[in-house]
Amino acid sequence: MKIPPEKVIVALDTPSLQSATDLLDELKDHRVWVKVGMELFYGAGPEIILNAHNKGFKVFLDLKLHDIPNTVGQSLKTLSKLPFDMVNIHAAGGKEMMKRAAEAIKSSYHPPLLIAVTQLTSTSTEQMNLEQKIPGDLALSVLNYAKLAKESGCDGVVSSPLEVKIIKSICGDDFLTVTPGIRPKDANHQDQKRVTTPLEALELGTDFMVIGRPITGAKDPKKALEEILRGQ
Ligand code: C5P
Repeated sequence: MKIPPEKVIVALDTPSLQSATDLLDELKDHRVWVKVGMELFYGAGPEIILNAHNKGFKVFLDLKLHDIPNTVGQSLKTLSKLPFDMVNIHAAGGKEMMKRAAEAIKSSYHPPLLIAVTQLTSTSTEQMNLEQKIPGDLALSVLNYAKLAKESGCDGVVSSPLEVKIIKSICGDDFLTVTPGIRPKDANHQDQKRVTTPLEALELGTDFMVIGRPITGAKDPKKALEEILRGQ
């Protein structure tokens, strides 16, 4: 089975405008999304968003905003002058903050999808010594945040592919799931703990899979992406 390119978000995790732009040039034959996180946005500035947009990529701006409702709303209004297609906030910021974020982006020329971060996998791994299974309290926390995010006007959440089914059963099939922790079969897991292959993530019903180092760290990133899209 093939992986639809429009479901793949390549994480451009580098602080350098030049190396991120080089990667864009290598990958531009495929209709994948790219993710600009804090490292790249702080290192390269808004220019990387414009570069990616101008080269035909859809952009996920992964800044995980979390502050008082007014600050998050106003920041999103400012950011929304840039051409990105998805942005995220922390569900832990609460309902009022998420509502203000949803209102703020509505007024932009091309409203991006608004995604909430539920439980950071890094903290939950440390705190709950989690390996393969989702312990009850973590699952509850993810689900509570997902429900709150939906009620506050978010379009979806960041989650593990292993949580997609339960999130959709509570929040509905059209509530989006954006899932990191993806590794092609036999690839190095690096620091990712609960991984699935791209094919497994697709079968679990994920809407977007975030993949970084298996592509960006490969000798030939274009070839690595093409192998993933072929379902290998
Ligand atoms: O290189 P790798 O495929 O592990 O990259 C995954 C990307 O997804 C990174 O940019 C990482 O910051 C992000 N991410 C994650 N786990 C989360 C949230 C975001 O790996 N829970």
